[in-house]
Amino acid sequence: MSTDLHTRLSSALAAASSDSIVFDLTGIADQYDRLMRELPGTAVRFAMKACSVDEVLTCLAERGAGLDAASPVEITQALRLGVPPDRIHYGNTVKSDETIAEAHRLGVRTFATDSVQDVAAIAAHAPGARVYCRLATSGDGALWGLSRKFGCSKDEAVRVLTAARDAGLVPAGLSVHVGSQQMTFEAWQQATDLLADTLVALRGRGIVLDHVNFGGGLPALGYLDRRGKRLDPPLDKMFAVIREGMEHLRILNAAPLDFVMEPGRHLVADHGAVRAHVYRLTERRQSDGESVHWLYLSCGKFNGLYEMDELCHRLVFPGHDSGPYVSAYVAGPTCDSDDAYRAPHQRVPSTLRSGDPVWILSAGAYATSYMTQGFNGFRPLPYTATDDGSALVGAAAGGRSR
Ligand SMILES: Cc1ncc(COP(=O)(O)O)c(C=O)c1O
Repeated sequence: MSTDLHTRLSSALAAASSDSIVFDLTGIADQYDRLMRELPGTAVRFAMKACSVDEVLTCLAERGAGLDAASPVEITQALRLGVPPDRIHYGNTVKSDETIAEAHRLGVRTFATDSVQDVAAIAAHAPGARVYCRLATSGDGALWGLSRKFGCSKDEAVRVLTAARDAGLVPAGLSVHVGSQQMTFEAWQQATDLLADTLVALRGRGIVLDHVNFGGGLPALGYLDRRGKRLDPPLDKMFAVIREGMEHLRILNAAPLDFVMEPGRHLVADHGAVRAHVYRLTERRQSDGESVHWLYLSCGKFNGLYEMDELCHRLVFPGHDSGPYVSAYVAGPTCDSDDAYRAPHQRVPSTLRSGDPVWILSAGAYATSYMTQGFNGFRPLPYTATDDGSALVGAAAGGRSR
């Protein structure tokens, strides 16, 4: 994290006197600008599911981003914020007749698909719409794979887009998602090969597309590995591979090809942090005789850290800058055994007391959107969004569940 970012978020976290999630809008705007410098000309459709906070969506939309919506409720939110329908696509392959019709009524004309049944439903309830077919990837190399539920093979994509054309829809594009928090650049090389093979196969059927959607999956940089070291995804190499892939596909296609990306985590994760507090640091002897420390926090899997199983955050304990330290398992406040980091131990100050503040960094993605309504009586965290680290704005209750 850059010093600026650290300073802005630290000021905002220090200003928060109770538990909340703090978003650094300047950091999010800078991150978007950086992405546009790396992948110029790419149309960004921010994945709303990663952070459906009004201020964050507005900040991105004002810089030119569109939105990837997963339901009519998200589409309605995007429209309420002034995002035009032609900058919103319905990126969920899982849809009902009713949700397709509602999206169409709201003005959305571009839909993701991956089956002929879904295509038939789109033709019936959103006649003439543009569709793009999602190709399945393995998800290998990602810390949060998305492989099984979505996408189809190359041959199936040809069948799906042929059915779309025959049903009066516009077969417009192909998409992939290499899995969230992807850690390898090879994932995008493989995705490019798959996209290239599918474009060629489609051309054999007389179907020429106008866009390719490289999906989400770009990593955040602030998570820790299971030993507490900063993850180090090869981001520059990933961008180089994506640029090369775009160039390759552009040359291959029989018509001009536009590119779309749907980043979620990459734009917001490192620019949001949780201000929580210590419930208690305990030490107890287990049945095997070993004595272990547990640090219980006020925030966990069900009220802001849904991904704590797979991803480890850096914890900061203000006022406890030097040791002594102990190794502790870290867990959330509920009476649920899943509500804990899977990482074996974290080094925490042994002097922590109930009520001490704790900052949980790189927690801006899939936090507000994944909170329960109050599992075990723990209410969703409210959020705040800050421009400069001092003035907190939009301090309304957050906790949109999905
Ligand atoms: C269709 C789609 N696009 C984009 C994203 C965003 O992915 P990420 O947060 O890894 O960038 C997701 C995440 O689940 C998704 O399902």
